[in-house]
Parts: sequence; structure tokens; C-alpha cells
Amino acid sequence: MTEQKPVTESTAKKVPTLPDAQTVTEVKHYTDRLFSFKCTRPASLRFRSGEFVMIGLMGDVNPKTGKQKPLLRAYSIASPSWDEEMEFYSIKVQDGPLTSKLQHIQPGDEVILRPKPVGTLVHDALIPGKRIWFFATGTGFAPFASLLREPQTYQDYDEVIITHTCREAGELTYGRDLIEALKDDELLNEVIGEGFWKKIKYYPTTTREESAKMGRITDLIRSGEAYADLDVEPLNPESDRAMICGNMAFNLELKDMLEEAGLEEGANSKPAQYVVEKAFLD
Ligand SMILES: Cc1cc2nc3c(=O)[nH]c(=O)nc-3n(C[C@H](O)[C@H](O)[C@H](O)COP(=O)(O)OP(=O)(O)OC[C@H]3O[C@@H](n4cnc5c(N)ncnc54)[C@H](O)[C@@H]3O)c2cc1C
Ligand SMILES: NC(=O)c1ccc[n+]([C@@H]2O[C@H](COP(=O)([O-])OP(=O)(O)OC[C@H]3O[C@@H](n4cnc5c(N)ncnc54)[C@H](OP(=O)(O)O)[C@@H]3O)[C@@H](O)[C@H]2O)c1
Repeated sequence: MTEQKPVTESTAKKVPTLPDAQTVTEVKHYTDRLFSFKCTRPASLRFRSGEFVMIGLMGDVNPKTGKQKPLLRAYSIASPSWDEEMEFYSIKVQDGPLTSKLQHIQPGDEVILRPKPVGTLVHDALIPGKRIWFFATGTGFAPFASLLREPQTYQDYDEVIITHTCREAGELTYGRDLIEALKDDELLNEVIGEGFWKKIKYYPTTTREESAKMGRITDLIRSGEAYADLDVEPLNPESDRAMICGNMAFNLELKDMLEEAGLEEGANSKPAQYVVEKAFLD
């Protein structure tokens, strides 16, 4: 597992100079491809846990016009709706227009955050059920980092199953740390009651590096191994609700599996039994 680098924190506040500027307050690096950061929250921003916003940095100066344009990308908000700060969990693409730069941000720096949250991975898009499945690959864990800290998740469901499939073991660290920390979450313990975290079943798997559980979640579900490991009944439309966030192939494969099990896709305008969102475009 890649060693976690030290956390950098700051309370320094600079006068914002960018449009929709927010100040970075904390940065954590997990692997050479993953990091998370926190920034201040726009006073007027209201969002539902699981939604995404556009964030970014100013682009380079155009040599022809001498002007700079914001370079923005979609990012799931990893913090819950009640949090005073905003948290994001990010990939580092070495030649990526945004993340080649974003990976170097430090506390005190500014990021652009357009305060227009949208998205389908929200409780409003699901009809009531007993058990909710959060299926993630890679940075697709981000919206679930928000929803796992959202009281409504535990108010609405008896059981919360979170699966996270990554290539390497170090890529699970952010999720695992967050889930371990939930036990001591003051708000959830107070609002839902001590021991609320016993509703959570966490199922991390890797595909290209040895870990406690190897394999794609899709294969593990198909073979029945995941159900046996988790000690749960197979997916069924009466009790199960699901949210999917990963790469395109994963989303499509899992969508087919849920449809085969009899679940119907929902949306904000027409709540149903499962919802899907891309973790990145490709
Ligand atoms: C709805 C939505 C929500 C998103 N939420 C997040 C998020 O919470 N965290 C996050 O890191 N990214 C997220 N993304 C992806 C994000 O918008 C950018 O693509 C990413 O930040 C890389 O930006 P870039 O300009 O460096 O490279 P881009 O030019 O955007 O991407 C270059 C290539 O890098 C790969 N790539 C991009 N993003 C990822 C990723 N997240 N994981 C693995 N490979 C990737 C793809 O192959 C892509 O073609 C989201 C995308 C969508 C559509
Ligand atoms: N992660 C790395 O170490 C790494 C390093 C350098 C470059 N990259 C590049 O970065 C991009 C994104 O890589 P990523 O690892 O973040 O994301 P990814 O390729 O989406 O893979 C994340 C996880 O999803 C699994 N997966 C893929 N398709 C699936 C499906 N249909 N059903 C179930 N599970 C599925 C993968 O398993 P499999 O392993 O079986 O595909 C992997 O465990 C890729 O273009 C990659 O080439 C990644």
C-alpha cells in the first residue's frame, strides 16, 4: 500500500481574486494518482448529498488574446450536505489539462467552484426500500463519501452496503479511512444513535494487486461470492435500492445486472429503484 503523505492544513484566508473563488484548507495525497482536498464553502451554496459541481483553476494565458479562461471539470462533492467545508476526492492525470495542475494545490490557494450542484445520485431519485447498495470503482467513491456521512442514508435504510473496486490496494485508502472514521462521527451518532455504523457493510476489492478480496464486484456478484461474503440475500426489487458510480463499462455492466434482477432506473423527475452516474467521461 502506498504510504500516506502528511496532511497539510491552514487557516490562512486570502482575499478571493478569482470568480467563484474558494480557499483550499487541507490537502491529502494517497497515491501518485489520487488525492483529496477541502476548501471553504460558498455561503449561499445548498446541495443534496451525492451531487456534483464544476470546479477548476484559471487556465493559461492565451498568447493571442492575452486573456485567461477558467478550466473547469465536473466533480462529485465528497462532503455531506451539512458540512461547513467542501471536500473533493481527485484523480491526478499527469497530462490532464486540469489535474496536472490541481494536484499541486496547497492550503491557502484558490480554486474555482461554480455553485450549481446537480446529479442523479441523490436519495430523492429512489423510492423507499430496506437496503441500499453503493457500487463504486476508483474515484467513483466520491459521491458515496458524501452519502455515507448523510443522516438520511441511515434514516431511510436498515442496511447500507458499499462496494469499492480498484486496481491497487493503495487506491482503497481514502474510502477505508473514511468508513473507519464514521464510528466516531458525532452528528451521525447523535442523530441516528450510537451503533448506527453497524448498518454498514463495506466490501473493498482489488483487481491488479493482492488484497484481502480480489476481483471485480460484477464477477463476485454473478458468482454469488459477494452475497456469501456479505451474508446477504441476492438483489431483489422489493427491498433493494442501488446507486452506481464508476467507469463507463462498469456502469453499463452493473446496470444490466440490476435490470436483470428486476430493478428499474430512477431519476430526479421519476424516482425508482436504482440510479447511475459516470465517475469520469470516456
Ligand atoms: C459527473 C462527473 C463527476 C466527476 N467527479 C469526479 C470526482 O469526484 N473526482 C475526480 O477525480 N474526477 C471526477 N470526474 C472527472 C473529472 O471531471 C475530470 O475528468 C478529471 O478531474 C480529470 O481532469 P483533467 O482535465 O486533468 O483530464 P481530462 O481531460 O478530463 O481527462 C483525461 C483522461 O483521464 C482519465 N480520467 C479522467 N478522470 C478520471 C477519474 N476520475 N478516474 C480515472 N481516470 C480519469 C480519462 O481517461 C480521461 O479521458 C467526474 C466526471 C463527471 C462527468
Ligand atoms: N489505476 C492505476 O494504477 C493506473 C495507472 C496508470 C494509468 N491508469 C489509467 O487511468 C485510467 C483509469 O484507471 P482507474 O484504475 O482509475 O480506473 P478503471 O480503469 O476504471 O478501473 C477501476 C476498477 O474498475 C474495474 N473495472 C473496470 N471495468 C469494469 C467492469 N466492466 N466491471 C467491473 N469492474 C470493472 C477495474 O478492474 P480491472 O483491473 O479488471 O480492469 C478496476 O479494478 C485508465 O485509462 C488507466 O489506463 C491507471
